[in-house]
Amino acid sequence: MSNYKRTLITTALPYANGPVHIGHLAGVYVPADIYARYLRLNGQEVTLVGGSDEHGVPITIKAKAEGVTPQDIVDRYHKIIKDSFEELGISFDVYSRTTTELHAQTASEFFRHLYDKGEFVEQTSMQLYDEKANQFLADRYVVGECPHCHNPRAYGDQCEVCGTSLNATDLINPVSAITGNTPVLRETKHWYLPLDKWEPALRKWILDGHKEWKVNVYGQCKSWLDLGLQPRAVSRDLDWGVPVPVEGADGKVLYVWFDAPIGYISNTRELYPESWEKWWKDPQTRIINFIGKDNIVFHCIVFPTMLMAYGDNYQLPDNVPANEFLNLEGDKISTSRNWAVWLHEYLQDFPGKQDVLRYVLTANAPETKDNDFTWADFQTRNNSELVAILGNFVNRAVVLTHKYFDGKVPADVHMTDAETAVFDEMDRIRTAMSQNIDTFHFRDALKEAMNLARLGNRYLQETEPWKVAKTDIGRVATILYTALQICGSIAVAFEPFTPFMSKRLCKMVGLDKPLEWSMIGRRDLVAGGTMLGAPEFMFEKIEDDAVQAQITRLQETKRNNEINAWKPAPQSADVDFDTFMKADIRVGTVLECERVPKADKLLRFLIDDGMEKRTIVSGIAKYYDPADLVGHQVCFIANLPPRKLKGIVSQGMILSAEDRDGRLVVIGPSAPVAPGVQVK
Ligand code: 2FM
Ligand code: ZN
Repeated sequence: MSNYKRTLITTALPYANGPVHIGHLAGVYVPADIYARYLRLNGQEVTLVGGSDEHGVPITIKAKAEGVTPQDIVDRYHKIIKDSFEELGISFDVYSRTTTELHAQTASEFFRHLYDKGEFVEQTSMQLYDEKANQFLADRYVVGECPHCHNPRAYGDQCEVCGTSLNATDLINPVSAITGNTPVLRETKHWYLPLDKWEPALRKWILDGHKEWKVNVYGQCKSWLDLGLQPRAVSRDLDWGVPVPVEGADGKVLYVWFDAPIGYISNTRELYPESWEKWWKDPQTRIINFIGKDNIVFHCIVFPTMLMAYGDNYQLPDNVPANEFLNLEGDKISTSRNWAVWLHEYLQDFPGKQDVLRYVLTANAPETKDNDFTWADFQTRNNSELVAILGNFVNRAVVLTHKYFDGKVPADVHMTDAETAVFDEMDRIRTAMSQNIDTFHFRDALKEAMNLARLGNRYLQETEPWKVAKTDIGRVATILYTALQICGSIAVAFEPFTPFMSKRLCKMVGLDKPLEWSMIGRRDLVAGGTMLGAPEFMFEKIEDDAVQAQITRLQETKRNNEINAWKPAPQSADVDFDTFMKADIRVGTVLECERVPKADKLLRFLIDDGMEKRTIVSGIAKYYDPADLVGHQVCFIANLPPRKLKGIVSQGMILSAEDRDGRLVVIGPSAPVAPGVQVK
């Protein structure tokens, strides 16, 4: 723990153009909440701020696509995001948004202060302008041919086929995504933050001063700094955002990445209208920014430059513990492909199971590398860890106390070496957890917390109170007293991770004082004589069907994505007519059709080909009920050399069309013809 007086914890402001998903949670909000709760348990003065990022081009594009206003879009998602964070127990002291009047005022004043101090460089450049829509086109509003891979529908900021970052002016034959018009180049003026000027200060601050930062964060900063920094535009030609507060800047707004981090300041101001400055300008305040790895440059380079340029004692973050990404079932999470577990949907599908998600996302957090969320792992961690280890121990301790002492915590206790060892181990766990949380290693801290439950199970297993009860009820009193102290410690140690369970556990073991971190391992945490509540299960098993429903939903998403992404295969190389005519394609009538045993893809056909009957094996069993094909006419290639498939000689190949989803549809004549006729 540091010597600072107070800690301000900020969380990346999520864009209000969609709900939040498990990737956001694992990367930013769950760790930030764990940290805030832990500091509060340590009696620290702490503020956790968050809010929705409601400006930027993607929001305007979504609004246009839906025929509504950008304000409609952000109103909709801000509510979903805010409500779902609250339900998950993210303990924000304030969760606001960047469309408030206070934010506009704060961001505007910030810009104006830098402007008046001469901290910006004004530059004119040529940008694409849509003369029909009468507006400059943000990069995303321009589509055209990628100069690298020649994908005809690359965006002005990136080609999604080859992944190259682009400038809209790089595109070949650019068109406006708004009107379809060919845009023209027009001169426009913008304000640039000269990051290059601040490079020495940034180097000193990060590379010399913050060697303790996470390797991924420090490394990314170092490579940016080593590449050399360039001035960055902080304004845009757009009609959605905070207007640039300068004479003659009509039609220009602050760049979303300029106003968003100022949102941290506006949110603090909203929470503490009188005293917000001490949270930003007092050197005894420690600022920690929780973000995902894609935000590192903005939080470690751009925003700190803005703060340094502003001066007036604004403090730089003390740490930026950015996480890597969480994937879902082996694939990158993607909002546009709907490849995500959305928080608001999870909360509907798994009511009352906030803690399970919080636990799994922490146990598997992408702290040092990208990680994968799978529903199978979710189920296993719930059933084999939360239920089988934690829930089981707590339940046994409480049930046994009800059984032998009518639910009253024993008071007549005589500790032996076994109990001393338990309390010593709890002390060790508390220290290890503190060290881990202080250094942002939440996964390891959670593992240690789980060791409390393991310790409890082992202790009961070794002391066997159910056996001892037959001869020495006094000893059982000590054992159960000790087991209940472990339960109390679990309630405290898990509070940052699974706060809902912690609350229920406190109630069950009669722990009604405000929790403090130092209570972990205390010998008298749950006082003798306390009446326990009725035994309750802290966690319940998650059955296969609940998990299967989620997997099925993802499989459907994947199929729909494949269908939507489908394009006809490029035309094959030319074939000369004589070669084509060598294929003897005929029509036959299906006489028999059945599945080939032990081959789930294959059907065996007996075809009337007008000459003699012929057997053909075809790989379409997944798409047909064999009985449905009998009597139908199909096209087949008659002159392929016979081939043996699963022991059956196949004399030809039945023609099928492969649909967008991979389904095979058999080809036949559109009206009955004589079996054996040729297809020409
Ligand atoms: O990447 C994002 O989702 C951004 N909306 C994060 C902004 S963080 C901060 F600067 F507000
Ligand atoms: Zn490309």
